[in-house]
Amino acid sequence: MLFEIVTTGSMLGVLGASYYKKNNLNSDHDKIIKIADNCGLYTKEEKIRLYRRRYNKEKKFTEYVYKIPLGLELEDFQDKYGKFKDGLNNRSVRKINLKDFKELKLDKTILKQIQNIINNREPVNKEIEMEYDGMLIFRVFDEGLTKDLPYTKEMLDNCKGWEIPLGVTYKEFVKHNFEKMQILVVAGQTRYGKTVFLKNVITSLINNQPDNLKLTLIDLKGGLAFSRYLNCKQVNTVAKNSKETLEALEAIHTEMVKRQEHFLSKGWEDIGEAGWTERHFVIVDEGAEINGFEKKDQADRALYLLGEIARMGAGIGYRLIFATQYPTADVFPRQVKANTSAALCFRLKNATQSMVVLDTKGAESLPVGLKGRAIYQTDCDRLVQTPLIKNGFIDGIIKPHIVMKPRSESSEPQNSKEDTKAGEYTTEFKEI
Ligand SMILES: Nc1ncnc2c1ncn2[C@@H]1O[C@H](COP(=O)(O)OP(=O)(O)OP(=O)(O)O)[C@@H](O)[C@H]1O
Ligand SMILES: [Mg+2]
Repeated sequence: MLFEIVTTGSMLGVLGASYYKKNNLNSDHDKIIKIADNCGLYTKEEKIRLYRRRYNKEKKFTEYVYKIPLGLELEDFQDKYGKFKDGLNNRSVRKINLKDFKELKLDKTILKQIQNIINNREPVNKEIEMEYDGMLIFRVFDEGLTKDLPYTKEMLDNCKGWEIPLGVTYKEFVKHNFEKMQILVVAGQTRYGKTVFLKNVITSLINNQPDNLKLTLIDLKGGLAFSRYLNCKQVNTVAKNSKETLEALEAIHTEMVKRQEHFLSKGWEDIGEAGWTERHFVIVDEGAEINGFEKKDQADRALYLLGEIARMGAGIGYRLIFATQYPTADVFPRQVKANTSAALCFRLKNATQSMVVLDTKGAESLPVGLKGRAIYQTDCDRLVQTPLIKNGFIDGIIKPHIVMKPRSESSEPQNSKEDTKAGEYTTEFKEI
């Protein structure tokens, strides 16, 4: 009896799924035509005409190829992106999940349970992409961007070198590579995911580069968010206030100037040529607090030093992540902004703030309350969902790296080519 119910249920599921797909294909095409019509995307003589349709099983999208009337261009359609997207998502659909049948409870409610499975409706969450290559290519992805992305070990294993898992777009996993983009600005209103993202970066790098990573963590919200990393061997400093911040930044600056002189004397162009594998990350959480330092000259100095790290640091092995909740022009050291090649921007209060971070509007229109949703800007802008890393997961990853002995204050790379060469460079740096 049970076998019959489950088998019948599964058959219904399969039929339901294929009915859904078939129906869905037709209705999406019909909708595209209708929306184009309603938006005036036609000429006197012609309307858009379907030329080809194909389903990509692996990437889960349907590609519609249309011939568009003479006189119209891709941009005309892209301008109506919101109308197409809303139109394709304007209903919920019956969705039969096969796995629900496996979870049926064998009691007198079984018929009701089956009914619920069959009548299950879910909101549609499709994403669209448009391209032109002589024809208008319209890709409709079955599933848009997820609202929820747990951080997993698998993501971490997917990252090589100095990459970290940044998140997903509606179609792919995205990594940030700190060898290619050495300075990253992170902005966003309170509680949208900045610190969680910074913990993702720190944890990922500790796991993937345990012997090459050095960290200066500046947590101007009191040091609590980063305190779990305090005893990791990769952590040089956790600065929590103006005094500690200035001390840390001055030390890095002195070290940087010496390192630059050393590179010059050796004729090395950059850290790659020097063959040093160490990278020193300076991570600032709530950079706007610097402006609030009690003494103005301390704030100015700290901003200047951060600017110098941004200006000189990338080539000689320093990486900077500057996070802030209040991205106004005076919060960003000019050199940080000028040298930044990437930004991760969660929802912001207004378009002006968005302009400061991204040089374009948009971050103010990210969905309200959707944590982890951001615009990732590199050479293009991508809408991403960042992963949520849990403290328990972090603790598991960093446990093997926790040391109780006092850390050396030396800033010299432990694994430079020169370690083996009579230690002359080592001595030079120990003097700092
Ligand atoms: N990527 C994410 N996915 C889902 N939820 C998230 C994500 N990132 C953060 N959150 C949730 O939002 C909460 C706040 O995140 P977080 O502390 O990173 O915010 P914040 O931007 O640093 O805020 P503040 O400016 O106040 O420091 C987290 O405790 C977590 O519950
Ligand atoms: Mg925070």
